Amino acid sequence: MTRVFSGIKPTGHLTLGNYLGAMRRWAAVDQHRADSVFCVVDLHALTVDHDPARVRRLSRQAATLLLAIGLDPKSCTVFVQSHVDEHARLSYLLECVATDGETRRMIQYREKAAREQRRGGSVRLSLLTYPVLMAADILAYGADEVPVGDDQRPHVELARDLAVRFNQRYGHTFVVPRATHPAVAARVMNLQDPMSKMGKSDDVGPGIVYLLDEPDVVRKKVVRAVTDSGRDVVYDREARPGVTNLLEILAACSGGDPKSLAGAYESYGALKKDTAEAVVEVLRPVREKHKELCADPGYVEGVLREGAERARGMARPTVDAAHQAIGLLPAVRA
Ligand code: AMP
Ligand code: TRP
Repeated sequence: MTRVFSGIKPTGHLTLGNYLGAMRRWAAVDQHRADSVFCVVDLHALTVDHDPARVRRLSRQAATLLLAIGLDPKSCTVFVQSHVDEHARLSYLLECVATDGETRRMIQYREKAAREQRRGGSVRLSLLTYPVLMAADILAYGADEVPVGDDQRPHVELARDLAVRFNQRYGHTFVVPRATHPAVAARVMNLQDPMSKMGKSDDVGPGIVYLLDEPDVVRKKVVRAVTDSGRDVVYDREARPGVTNLLEILAACSGGDPKSLAGAYESYGALKKDTAEAVVEVLRPVREKHKELCADPGYVEGVLREGAERARGMARPTVDAAHQAIGLLPAVRA
């Protein structure tokens, strides 16, 4: 059976971009057709300046939201990364296979490092090694597919390169994974700045729709979205990034095709109104289920405990095999 692995970082409140780009398919498709593993990747939240209490809070919230979007612990495994030691254990081995150059070349590293430096802060070493930890997340589970948004393409590519290199040097150990992306909305853009990704840790709040935003807040954000000069509704990422972003969001939420939808609108106003309502309807059940789950924190904790146990059982044999293959003596376990 196909194995699927994906994760989400607790660095901010989850957004419509997270949902349309990645999470929605996990719940609607992946968990039903594959042996699926989904993870709150909390170790990745420590790569930039962070507040411990906030990371704890956001990790709990992200886990609750994973269940709220419809992940069913009977159909898939849901857990928190730091509860399973195998991730960090394998990451070190992969650091011995990756090169300094290939991690420095990663676009996200270059962008985030530059941002930290502009703020006068220092760049954590873990920011550089982060894609290697991500490769460990994926390879430890023998994942065939990694459903992610478009921005994660280079990271999954690195995971592939490391798997191939490790297998060539030390013998076949890892499955070589591939990224999968949604047909539309693989990169949802910030509503106030349609040239930048809608990212949860960005500070341009009014351009970001959060999964838990109230309907009126969603409406306001969509209606105030920056559109392009010109009046007609055209699907063109280069020339009309604002309108194209709205068409992609509408298509993803209503099941249509963004190019044909463009033909159905004569004004930006009507497009915004329909997009806002489509987003409100998509988020409504998520918000309701989240509220229900918050009333029962013991349930979420239980799911995570069981999830971590299952995840350990899946990851340990592969990570043990990697230890042996690379030249480490097997540990004698009690
Ligand atoms: P992150 O928020 O970086 O932990 O991302 C979690 C998942 O959501 C990854 O698969 C990302 O590719 C995806 N994602 C994040 N932001 C967006 C966005 N604006 N559009 C589409 N996918 C996104
Ligand atoms: N780097 C991913 C992001 O920022 C999160 C992530 C960490 C991930 N480990 C992963 C995604 C493994 C897929 C598989 O979105």
